[in-house]
Amino acid sequence: MSSDVTYPPGPRGLPVIGNTVDLSRDIFAFFEELRDEHGRVASYEVFGTDACMIAHPDAVQQVLLDDHDAFEKGEVLTRNLADAMGEGLFVTGGEQWQNQRTQVQPAFYRNRLNTYVPEMRTTAEETVEQWRDGMVVDVNHWMTKTTMDVLGRTLFGVDVTENPVVSEASDAILARFDTSRFWSFLPDRLPTPTNRRYRRKLDDLQTFVDELAQQRRQHPPENRGDDLLSILVGFLEASELTQEELRDNMVTFLFAGHETTALGLTYTLLCLAQHPEEQAALREEIDTVCGEAVAAEDLPELEQTERVIDEALRLYPPVYMFFREATRDVELEGYHIPEGTTLVLPQWAVHRDPAWWDDPKAFCPDRFAGDTDHPEYAHFPFGGGPRHCIGMRFARMEMKTVLATILSEYTFELASKPNPDLVASTNLKPGEPIEIELHERDDTEEVVQ
Ligand code: HEM
Repeated sequence: MSSDVTYPPGPRGLPVIGNTVDLSRDIFAFFEELRDEHGRVASYEVFGTDACMIAHPDAVQQVLLDDHDAFEKGEVLTRNLADAMGEGLFVTGGEQWQNQRTQVQPAFYRNRLNTYVPEMRTTAEETVEQWRDGMVVDVNHWMTKTTMDVLGRTLFGVDVTENPVVSEASDAILARFDTSRFWSFLPDRLPTPTNRRYRRKLDDLQTFVDELAQQRRQHPPENRGDDLLSILVGFLEASELTQEELRDNMVTFLFAGHETTALGLTYTLLCLAQHPEEQAALREEIDTVCGEAVAAEDLPELEQTERVIDEALRLYPPVYMFFREATRDVELEGYHIPEGTTLVLPQWAVHRDPAWWDDPKAFCPDRFAGDTDHPEYAHFPFGGGPRHCIGMRFARMEMKTVLATILSEYTFELASKPNPDLVASTNLKPGEPIEIELHERDDTEEVVQ
């Protein structure tokens, strides 16, 4: 690396707490301002620790793909998630991560995913059956319940909604890691009420997943099916996975998979409620392709639905930023990044950068039609490189299936604020309910077979 390469520029905030104040006030504006005022690779300080924002698609690609071996998940994340999922796929590194990724991969092969679609559809139908003409529904509430249910049924073969242990632990864990709250920066050993509740609920959840695995082991292997839980139990019995790894992976999949997908659906429905013309076009595609009910083989043909989902994930990425730590000195976009630097990759600021997106705040699914001209990593809702989201296809299939089921029964319009407040929580959450008013489709309307 040449000696004239400098550390990325950036603001210097208040002494001691650095830019923490600005950052916790409006993290979205903070990264957009940092990008506009100091550049797409820029530095800032949080609690006296230097961090660099990586908001140039080429640099994002270098971190996630080209030079991925120069980065790891980092100490803050590893320490924070150690108790809940330290031995699971999301947190582990090196050979342990590689082994686990290979072990669980079969649960996410395309053919296997296709077999989940009927469960996804049934779950979505059960949700829609509880809705009525004229009802105003809180979208995030319903989608969270639906996606949790789908995960439980498809990956673990259980009805998790019947068991309050899972939903209560989910709330406690998400509250513990709610980065919009000051105390999430504190170590989880401090006995704050949030942390005490988190410990209690996490213990309950771990006992629950241990019991679930134990029950599965009582069945002979040939009668166990091949869902994720059975795959994990098989590796446990072959001593290729520890009890702790099995438990942490079950917790990992429950948490990595349900809130993210629920938010993806929530924001897609928000965008569709605001754009009746896009809603009508989608309904037409769904009627034409799916007929009576959506099936796995229909999903690849739902091209406009795919574009709508991509555009909603661009505007409202459920994972709005994530971290890496440099394991050696590297050069990014002409800047020197010393070993040990914490990097933040903010999807929010990249997905809304006018350099890559015309009229970036507008909902315009057709930007994903045909040959798109944005750099590949200007859109990375599922991360990228070897550690990209293993549940990406699962999530896309689930979103399409749920949307197709809802749109074949109802039209809807927005019943809450057009631009809801957003909260930089563990994921990008609405700060207030997003509500839609439902209108049952006219039975005389022709469904194209
Ligand atoms: C719209 C829905 C989803 C979004 C936006 C999303 C986003 C992401 C992102 C950005 C990452 C990479 C994080 C990083 O590199 O630090 C990731 C990783 C991961 N996701 Fe997802 N995800 C979604 C759905 C799912 C689902 C449905 C599952 C499981 C069924 C899942 C399981 C995981 C796991 C286990 C990892 C860690 C992979 C590894 O490190 O090898 N995700 N996800």
